[in-house]
Amino acid sequence: MLMIPESFIQELLNRVDVVDVIDKSVPLKKAGSNYVACCPFHQEKSPSFTVSPTKQFYHCFGCGAHGSALSFLIEYQGMSFVDAVEDLAKSLGLAVPQETQKMTPQLKEKNLALGEALELASQYYQTALKKSERAIEYLKKRGLTGQIAKTFQLGFAPEGWQNLESVFKQYDDDVLTIAGLTLKNNQGKRYDRFRDRIMFPIHNMKGDIIGFGGRVIDPNDTPKYYNSPETPLFQKSQELYGLFAGRRAIREAGAVLVVEGYMDVVGLAQFGVRHAVATLGTAMSTFHIKKLMRQTDTIIFCFDGDHAGKAAAWRALMNALPSLNDKVVLKFLFLPDEHDPDSYIRVHSKEAFEVMMHDAMPLSQYLVQHLTEKNNLVTQEDKVKFLNEAEPILKEITAPKLSLLLRKRFAELAHLNEKEMDQLLHLPQPKSLSHKVMIKTKGKLPSSVKRKFILLLILKPELALSEDILLVSQDSFEDDLLKKVLEIALHQPDSKPSSILHGLKSQVDGALMDLIHEELSLFDDHIHFESEIEGARKSLTQQGKASATREHFNALKDKPLSSFTDEEKEHLKMLAQRPKTPPRD
Ligand code: UTP
Ligand code: MN
Repeated sequence: MLMIPESFIQELLNRVDVVDVIDKSVPLKKAGSNYVACCPFHQEKSPSFTVSPTKQFYHCFGCGAHGSALSFLIEYQGMSFVDAVEDLAKSLGLAVPQETQKMTPQLKEKNLALGEALELASQYYQTALKKSERAIEYLKKRGLTGQIAKTFQLGFAPEGWQNLESVFKQYDDDVLTIAGLTLKNNQGKRYDRFRDRIMFPIHNMKGDIIGFGGRVIDPNDTPKYYNSPETPLFQKSQELYGLFAGRRAIREAGAVLVVEGYMDVVGLAQFGVRHAVATLGTAMSTFHIKKLMRQTDTIIFCFDGDHAGKAAAWRALMNALPSLNDKVVLKFLFLPDEHDPDSYIRVHSKEAFEVMMHDAMPLSQYLVQHLTEKNNLVTQEDKVKFLNEAEPILKEITAPKLSLLLRKRFAELAHLNEKEMDQLLHLPQPKSLSHKVMIKTKGKLPSSVKRKFILLLILKPELALSEDILLVSQDSFEDDLLKKVLEIALHQPDSKPSSILHGLKSQVDGALMDLIHEELSLFDDHIHFESEIEGARKSLTQQGKASATREHFNALKDKPLSSFTDEEKEHLKMLAQRPKTPPRD
């Protein structure tokens, strides 16, 4: 929707200090030339989270979390990309330029107005709840305390058609209708959307109210829950109820529990299970999963044990598969038929509920159970049916380890060896190229000279302006990476490493990015670049593999000259004057 020029993002990353940004949320301690803290992305007792002021990125040696100031705001604060950019820009006193006209100042103002309207309405609903004996009575009957109602800012929209008239000066302002608070009838007259309902405000990750869910008090009214419509601030398929309120608890528990209803989130929280969230009456989307994966590694889906619950669980699983990585753990908890989480914890206890969470079924077990539920894999036909059902599932999974283990397990069940199964199902090889090529060297600096060279270039992109570019040949995976880094560095030779990494991220596989970050973190900040580079260049030429990269030259050549800096123009000239055959010595 909103386009922020890439060059502005680079500029931000070059000007902001990652240490300041992180220190605001996670107090950092100086340790040598870096800063350290206990990692906010996983639980640990001794600090393995390091922040480098020179490289301008953070890296955790425990869980591998890494990124720039921008990614920190996105991952830790749960901000959207646009919000994170705006936040950083604001801290530097910069205005975010926009490439398209979509987010005009008027529209921005409108969004602000929408937010304010929702906030005012929520305050009105909360006050109205305190005044309504009937609403209080209802919540008490449901077992809620005043305290928990306050925590979740529950409110009450009283009976009557135009209650909000007393709240807003201009009741027929379109803003109220766009915010989903009022509706317009055929005569153009406005009236309140929510009437005689218990109100559950829904917050975004910044804590702003973006919509409401309203529950009937009278069981004869329908629908039981009525939600805000989609608005510029509120997209049902992207939000999770309780995520803002529960984000600390989620981090502390190292897990998030996904339940089906608002009442479940609130009821569980009242009993001390505060890391639950709920979708807004929609299925769990891929977007939801990604959002949760930014907060934690363990996602427990809690569904009713009835048929609908099982169907919802399977749907959630299928939506989750493509976004899974090998770090995330998915679990499935099925409640006894007659219960939802809210009723279960009330009838039993927090402890009983915790036992169930602990015993939740891991993804692989759930998959196998589901696929073999009505199939005992005896006849050839049974096995064919099993394989037919397993095939689309395996094709959705890109997490290398999970994928491999499931293939093994499924092959066993079908009495095939893995090779037979891979051939039969035409499965692609697991995506682990970068793992194979870049052998993980934990705690050690890169072994290959070329790799070291790549890392040096990321740390000091201006090196791209020297003749070292001629060291790239075409024959290895590392050459390809080197080429990419060179290209980015050439365009922004004055950048900080975080900015080069940002440019690289969209071009290489995530596992490889992890490794690059890890290896960069191991680099001493006080290395003597000139001699390191000199050494690297020497041994590369001695290996006799160095050759000029005509391809790179061509790539530069095909770009419009107007997009070149003076230095790049010089560089291009220099490349063009080189002999066409690569030098060999
Ligand atoms: P449930 O019917 O399970 O409700 O719907 P609940 O949360 O347990 O609520 P109580 O205990 O009956 O008060 C689960 C979720 O589905 C959505 C809501 O998000 C609800 O929390 N829903 C349900 C709707 O959007 N509309 C409906 O009419 C019903
Ligand atoms: Mn319920």
